[in-house]
Amino acid sequence: MFEAKNITKTFNGEGGEAAVLNGADLLVEPGRFVSIVGRSGSGKTTFLNILSTLLAPDSGELLYRGEDITHASRARLNELRRRDFAVIFQFHHLLPYLTARENVLLPYMQGLGPVTAAVRRRADACLDRVGLSGKGGKLPGHLSGGEQQRVAIARALVKESAILFADEPTGNLDKETGDAIMGLLGELKHEGLAIVMVTHDEEYAARADRAVRMADGMVLKQ
Ligand SMILES: Nc1ncnc2c1ncn2[C@@H]1O[C@H](COP(=O)(O)OP(=O)(O)O)[C@@H](O)[C@H]1O
Ligand SMILES: [Mg+2]
Repeated sequence: MFEAKNITKTFNGEGGEAAVLNGADLLVEPGRFVSIVGRSGSGKTTFLNILSTLLAPDSGELLYRGEDITHASRARLNELRRRDFAVIFQFHHLLPYLTARENVLLPYMQGLGPVTAAVRRRADACLDRVGLSGKGGKLPGHLSGGEQQRVAIARALVKESAILFADEPTGNLDKETGDAIMGLLGELKHEGLAIVMVTHDEEYAARADRAVRMADGMVLKQ
């Protein structure tokens, strides 16, 4: 359902040009959980940002449900990011002055559609789904790191996205909380969500349906 072919990316830094991706490929089948593992600096975040269309590749192709989105218009990319693609980061990127419920509703506030009573009920159902019943009124600063990551996952759920891109979602969590987040991702996969997770944690990577490894700017194993 999602495919990246021969992706390249070079950054111009202080030390000159650095080729970070040298022809990286990835195939994600519908409803599958794929993990990308690799040491720090191997280009995982760069690759994930390209997959989720936050960053443009220098060359290569991105295909989503058969559509070539490599050179899609800004309007089409915004549409995909608003609905189909969800992204969660290591440092969850919640807005600190919005409550958990408002953070979950953010895709609607950003143009997905009107925040109707039904949408509010859906947001609460998503908060329930990630184990945050009754915490919708709290500000992120009053939630633990694991709870904040759950809010970010609930925000991905409320949109009914087709594919979730997660960059080190357990990266700044303790083992127990990280395990719980991994359990939750596994459940969402069983409910039909495709997931691409980047991690440097070999154990978590192995829990996916398929683990691929990045090194030298390429995906080594598919
Ligand atoms: N915006 C940028 N400008 C210059 N260099 C970058 C930029 N983003 C990442 N890099 C470099 O690209 C390499 C890969 O980074 P990254 O994709 O973050 O790897 P990972 O997520 O596997 O740790 C690193 O050497 C990093 O310094
Ligand atoms: Mg990274």
